[in-house]
Amino acid sequence: MYTTVVCLALMLVGLLGQQPASAPAGSASLNFDVFKTKIQPIFIAKRPGHARCISCHSAGTPLRLQPLPPGSATWSDEDSRKNFQAVQRVVLPGVPLKSKLLIHPLAEAAGGDFFHNGGKHWSSQSDPEWQALKAWVLGEPRTSGD
Ligand code: HEC
Repeated sequence: MYTTVVCLALMLVGLLGQQPASAPAGSASLNFDVFKTKIQPIFIAKRPGHARCISCHSAGTPLRLQPLPPGSATWSDEDSRKNFQAVQRVVLPGVPLKSKLLIHPLAEAAGGDFFHNGGKHWSSQSDPEWQALKAWVLGEPRTSGD
């Protein structure tokens, strides 16, 4: 009887002790160049049935991107840096499925969260845009020549 209790206690300690080691957060780092060349275009791209991310997210929303200068197809380096900062609040490096940037616009049936006021832009995790976001959050540069 006594040994059983001790064994159970030891198992519990073992289980609890394992938890920090199994959390993958913090190991990946976010690459600015990948953000600029692969992620920012996603904020500007037009998807059928949806407004562009930037149409809503340059004003009035919690995620605040820099407004795109009229007639410009991309952001300056300085504005890209500001966007990079703003987006870090909704990204957990190394953990795509805990990054709001990835799960908020993703369909609930595909692993996204319940509701995004701006709509569900991706119906599957295999969407190329979603894959690009995932690779970036995991710290995989995927730049040519790398
Ligand atoms: C039609 C306007 C609209 C569009 C288009 C839109 N959003 Fe949103 N988004 C919102 C609003 C409003 C909120 C705040 C309410 C909510 O969370 O649903 C929001 C919230 C978010 C949040 C959570 C921010 C936070 O701080 O909690 C993320 C992340 C996000 N949007 C990402 C995106 C991405 C990425 C796109 C493009 C793929 C996009 N949104 C397109 C309106 C929009």
